[in-house]
Amino acid sequence: MSLANHFELLGRDGDARTGLLTTAHGTVRTPAFMPVGTQGAMKGLQWQDVRDAGADIVLGNTYHLMLRPGAERIHELGGLQKFTRWGGPMLTDSGGFQVMSLAQLRKVKEQGVTFRSHIDGTAIELTPERAIEVQRLLGSDIAMQLDECVRLPAERGDIERAMQLSLRWAERSRRAFEGAPAANMLFGIVQGGDIPELRRTSACGLTGIGFHGYAIGGLAVGEPQATMLAMIEEAAPWLPMERPRYLMGVGTPHDLLEAVARGIDMFDCVMPTRNGRHGMAFTRFGQINLRNARHADDPRPLDEESSWPAARDYSRAYLHHLVRSGETLGAMLLSGINIAYYQSLMQAMRSAIAGGVFQEFRERTREGWARGDI
Ligand code: GUN
Repeated sequence: MSLANHFELLGRDGDARTGLLTTAHGTVRTPAFMPVGTQGAMKGLQWQDVRDAGADIVLGNTYHLMLRPGAERIHELGGLQKFTRWGGPMLTDSGGFQVMSLAQLRKVKEQGVTFRSHIDGTAIELTPERAIEVQRLLGSDIAMQLDECVRLPAERGDIERAMQLSLRWAERSRRAFEGAPAANMLFGIVQGGDIPELRRTSACGLTGIGFHGYAIGGLAVGEPQATMLAMIEEAAPWLPMERPRYLMGVGTPHDLLEAVARGIDMFDCVMPTRNGRHGMAFTRFGQINLRNARHADDPRPLDEESSWPAARDYSRAYLHHLVRSGETLGAMLLSGINIAYYQSLMQAMRSAIAGGVFQEFRERTREGWARGDI
């Protein structure tokens, strides 16, 4: 049975698209970048900052939240949006990807994945059905199917086995989602590594099952950018035009620009907050490493034209000092500056697509990054 469509395409420019995704907790303007609040918190920022920066939707992680404080507890406390007081739309990742990177003694079987918690060593089984149940308990607006993501480079046999398993888990996830509130969504995840034919098989298989939206996973896991973009081009034509497309775990501002040009509508990545904590600023002049000694005497702000006060008001010399001294404020300011830059980039892309000038915008933006600021 086909699922209701909560996505409205408002405009297209080449393969780039702009639209609106309606959730029970608000509307998401696409292309959208979802800041990552893994444990129900945005590292270094208050929710009001995230909102002020222009984010419509944030991401939370099933894996972390089921271990601590527990999905049943969050359910009792009214769901993730209320518990955190973010209040807006939330997408939750299903856990498989985080199990692979964080958990100990993990084993992937047909039934699901078993592992030991990285917090207290408890043995846990995560099946496609349990991943859906946990995401329902969390009250997620957009749930993701359980999948298996293979790091690249990998053997074709391993990539194919994980892709086929992910397809079978997609089917089970879809069945487990039946009876969920009508406003909630479930996305399938395309796998298939760096092999075009497997990407196509995965995309077609998922489309046959039918989801509210389609993610492209298994990218930004060790392959060159050109391979990632080629895999988007392989998968996208097989996905339904009228459904949202989400590129998982990506990426740099340049990755976002190029992926939007290829028809992607949604992204998430820890990069703006994580790199911010390590002294890196994303700006329209490219990335600036504030640890670098050349900033020590520089009285200029990062970008005097930014709409984000911290990017406009503080000197590079002060930001450099905060980063070098390991002050928490440095991490907070740079996380905010980076999230605000990512959101301003998304807003600019949405306007350029709506105005039919995306190609010019893309070239101008790339030139700005390449020119640098000094
Ligand atoms: N986050 C980044 N990549 C992936 C992926 O392939 N699968 C899931 N579930 N999450 C991801």
